[in-house]
Amino acid sequence: MPEAQLTLALSKGRILEETLPLLARVGIVPDEDPARSRRLILSTSQPHIRLLIVRPTDVPTYVLHGGADLGVTGKDVLMEQAGGILYEPLDLRIGHCRLVLAGREGREPDRAQPRVATKYVATTRAFFAARGQQVDVIKLYGSMELAPLVDLADWIVDLVDTGNTLRANGLVPLETLAEISARLVVNPASWKTKHAPVRALVSALAETIGTESAP
Ligand code: PRP
Repeated sequence: MPEAQLTLALSKGRILEETLPLLARVGIVPDEDPARSRRLILSTSQPHIRLLIVRPTDVPTYVLHGGADLGVTGKDVLMEQAGGILYEPLDLRIGHCRLVLAGREGREPDRAQPRVATKYVATTRAFFAARGQQVDVIKLYGSMELAPLVDLADWIVDLVDTGNTLRANGLVPLETLAEISARLVVNPASWKTKHAPVRALVSALAETIGTESAP
């Protein structure tokens, strides 16, 4: 019987740079350089494994609806969108950063109900709801650091890696909502119907990063 075809959705951008070396360590090398190629489906050195190159925020959609059997995306994206629907067997220990609440240094919000600008609307709402604090959440799609500078918002919720972007804009982290890293996610149907090759890939990745995968 031929080996089942596996489709793996990768997040383009920062995570991709760290994902490709990890895949190479388990013998999966794309036939073209995804950073240069305009192709969105790439075959690999393993004939039964192909890669999709998509936006991090689209990875859960591809995996959830079966466009891909597996995916790699940030915990920030999964917290915001997937709500535990996808099987998440492995922390890949790459793409480390923090999801933080940040504001202008030495400034308290002067609105009775502070405004928070973020692309993580659901996560932010849940965070403040758990604290019993009422806020107005304003959805942005990027460059959140700008919002407090022009008084669009009192605070932001955003990812912080080096902290350079916050510092360059006079902002300071106030609280950490979550430690973030990239996760491997699996379509629940693929986990059952393609269990052997999926399990083999999860185990190989777990072994190469020196961790235990979920059973
Ligand atoms: C991310 C994040 C911050 C920045 C943090 O933005 O949203 O703006 O990186 O990194 P640092 O702490 O190392 O400065 P990204 O460049 O991904 O663009 P975005 O604004 O479109 O999210």
